Amino acid sequence: MAQVSLRRVVKEYEGGVQAVKGIDLEIADEEFVVLVGPSGCGKSTTLRMIAGLEEISSGEIAIGGMVVNDIPPRDRDIAMVFQNYALYPHMTVYENMAFGLTLRRFPKDEIRRRVENAARILDIGELLDRKPKALSGGQRQRVAMGRAIVRDPKVFLFDEPLSNLDAKLRVQMRVEIKKVHQTVRTTTVYVTHDQVEAMTLADRVVVMNQGIIEQVGTPQELYHRPATRFVAGFIGSPAMNMIPARLENGAGALRLRLPGDIVLPVPAERTQRYAPLAGGEVLFGIRPEHLTEPKNLDRPNIATFEAAPEVIEPLGMETLVIFSLQGNEVTARLDPAVPAERGRKMPFAADLNQMHLIEPRTGRVL
Ligand SMILES: Nc1ncnc2c1ncn2[C@@H]1O[C@H](COP(=O)(O)OP(=O)(O)O)[C@@H](O)[C@H]1O
Ligand SMILES: [Mg+2]
Repeated sequence: MAQVSLRRVVKEYEGGVQAVKGIDLEIADEEFVVLVGPSGCGKSTTLRMIAGLEEISSGEIAIGGMVVNDIPPRDRDIAMVFQNYALYPHMTVYENMAFGLTLRRFPKDEIRRRVENAARILDIGELLDRKPKALSGGQRQRVAMGRAIVRDPKVFLFDEPLSNLDAKLRVQMRVEIKKVHQTVRTTTVYVTHDQVEAMTLADRVVVMNQGIIEQVGTPQELYHRPATRFVAGFIGSPAMNMIPARLENGAGALRLRLPGDIVLPVPAERTQRYAPLAGGEVLFGIRPEHLTEPKNLDRPNIATFEAAPEVIEPLGMETLVIFSLQGNEVTARLDPAVPAERGRKMPFAADLNQMHLIEPRTGRVL
């Protein structure tokens, strides 16, 4: 097992596209790190550079303390699982998993030991004699992971391994992958565009956008303390509401004036933090789960206001209510027992302990 270091890593493709613009990242031994971001942000390029499948334009990559810039993929001691995991159709599951080790001339009994061990971890012991066409999508995905596990590499690299599976299976396999990592502890770099997959799997999440790293943190850190507007909007579902507002100074306290003349008092303990933005235009960020029906909370900094629902989305365990503040769409998450009616004004409560302020010019979350 090993740590992975990226130092000022740049990838410029022919034609001048800078896919990765000088990223730094330290991944600890045994850590499960997920690279997440929208399509085209440079996730696969980064992973392929770690694997050695893509040359680095500048910078340095080290695995286990050794710089691997000039080391070919087969000598990097990594194992990769892709979205399109091609299993050999004419080989059994056992042979598919054993293949890489056979090529590397491992002794037969060592191969058997490793394949049986991986089959036990993945719970596919019964399938070893089957051909891929007799497997379900999830079982095939397990075999693809088995091929990586038997190699016992320093690092696992996953590139959107679950994207071809249907939604339900994706959730199941997500749990499987987490269990596997809890068992084998191999350092893992996992790429996905799905923020839920990232949050559920990762020890630390790396949010990428347009070839740069926006923020690195634990799932909790990214959720509670997003550093940028991009991260604030990308992590969490439904996405954080961002409402244009004016931050006003009044009688030693700050308040937010929202469209529709809704005025919310800023928590006193945030006055100092937000003082530099006083008098200016800001984006008021609040997640739907912090915008609810009024409840009897004995907590300070809950502000109520009224609005009329435009769209009501009952989900069973909760109801999403969408209203508009002078053209700015806002989503709230309500208890399904609360009566809500389209067009009829109702009270909402904003938990301002959970608010964010974004400086529109820089996109910084203050
Ligand atoms: N072989 C290539 N040649 C030129 N441009 C590429 C190549 N591969 C990827 N790109 C470009 O680099 C950027 C990042 O791509 P990629 O790393 O595949 O993104 P992601 O995996 O995050 O969707 C994109 O703009 C993509 O079009
Ligand atoms: Mg990709």
